[in-house]
Amino acid sequence: MRKINIAIIGLGNIGSYLFKYLNENKRILTEKNNCIPIIKYVSAKNKKRKRNISIKKNQWLDNYLDSTKIKDIDLIVELIGGAEGPAKKLVFNALRNKKHVVTANKALIAKYGDQLTRIAEKNKVNLEFEASVCGGVPIIRSLKESLIANKILKIHGIFNGTSNYILSAMDKQGKNFDEVLLNAKKLGYAESNPTSDLNGDDVAAKLKILTSLCFNSFLNNNMHVEGIKDIEKTDIDNANKLGYKIKLLGFSELLNNKIYQRVHPTLIKKNTHVASIDGVLNAVIIDGKPVGQSTIQGEGAGPAPTTSALISDISSILRGNIKFPFSISSKERKKLKFENLSDRLFSAYLRFEVVDRPGVLSNITKIFSKNKVSIKRLVQNPDKNKKSSSIVIITHKSKDKYLNKTLRVVSKKNYIKRNPKLIRIDDN
Ligand SMILES: NC(=O)c1ccc[n+]([C@@H]2O[C@H](COP(=O)([O-])OP(=O)(O)OC[C@H]3O[C@@H](n4cnc5c(N)ncnc54)[C@H](OP(=O)(O)O)[C@@H]3O)[C@@H](O)[C@H]2O)c1
Repeated sequence: MRKINIAIIGLGNIGSYLFKYLNENKRILTEKNNCIPIIKYVSAKNKKRKRNISIKKNQWLDNYLDSTKIKDIDLIVELIGGAEGPAKKLVFNALRNKKHVVTANKALIAKYGDQLTRIAEKNKVNLEFEASVCGGVPIIRSLKESLIANKILKIHGIFNGTSNYILSAMDKQGKNFDEVLLNAKKLGYAESNPTSDLNGDDVAAKLKILTSLCFNSFLNNNMHVEGIKDIEKTDIDNANKLGYKIKLLGFSELLNNKIYQRVHPTLIKKNTHVASIDGVLNAVIIDGKPVGQSTIQGEGAGPAPTTSALISDISSILRGNIKFPFSISSKERKKLKFENLSDRLFSAYLRFEVVDRPGVLSNITKIFSKNKVSIKRLVQNPDKNKKSSSIVIITHKSKDKYLNKTLRVVSKKNYIKRNPKLIRIDDN
């Protein structure tokens, strides 16, 4: 029977789980793929580090880069992480030396995916990255294989479990952002430095990869990115009263031959499926022709779901299924036009904390109308003790640039007590 020799480079959370799982499930994977997966070598930074896996002496490579040169390695699994440094060196060298590569590294693929793909195609080897987007949610293979018939019009969803956990805990437990973040760290749902989860960068990297797969385009940095760090408990309560939930969503859509990529907190109707997805779960919704709307949801991170995705990639290689990494050949991928949001229409939620005095409300509504933003609902909550008032406005659809201009003009007025808020609404 055919066999494939594998090197696993990086034995941290993910690498050591994969090592164990592959060894324990070698027989069934061999039967399913008609090919034997053999873990020939492993490497990591520190040989002496205690790991709860049993590595044979002759399996360890002192220099991880040797894996790209040794003749009897067919496939390298990169589980170091990071867009630069050792992970970048490893993957570029591996592909140049005609080794198949499987990686869970979204940062690397979002930054160098186009270049890496060209090398993989030239050398007729696989570059697989199912585990880089939404862990156990099999969205990449679904787009490349199961949904191959479709013209994709839109992809959107919850792509970051940490943010989703924080927003749903603020809602369910009635706690503020900082309290919930602290708890998320204790429970292992947020890293000690959760910046890229909270500022939208993590979602942006995933969305960039998905956009390319959906629209057969190259990776493109033109994307609007906002995270959840400014969302307050008050916004969540206001949204609830108005019939919405707040979620951090990523969207990529094709409108009049232009692509819009955006990541931002979003008000969505309570009765939608996405609104009901709480905790660390991820969900991806695809709108395509002829499939209609299709949703995949599941665990977006953690060693077990990520290993499920890695084994899917490894199995594809065991079966000899050499595919273009981004679904079609680099020669056929398109340079599509990516637009910024300025002329895109949105309805929005705006909140202003103002000094409670006569004339303020009428001044605000005048600024709205002067900037072509029409008001659908307005709720005012005065606080007599603080001599302040909270004004919440839901707008009709208006160009994004008009919404932002309105916000800017009002925010400069002397009756404004704190930075105003603008959260876009998804009411499509
Ligand atoms: N954790 C998740 O839930 C998750 C989910 C999806 C995707 N991913 C992705 O999976 C990848 C791995 O994540 P992880 O959580 O397993 O990270 P991790 O626990 O930090 O493990 C990183 C591994 O890389 C090794 N390493 C670091 N620098 C190295 C170098 N110069 N040479 C050789 N090895 C080196 C480390 O060696 P030592 O062990 O000796 O320090 C460690 O074994 C990342 O790309 C991440 O984004 C993670």
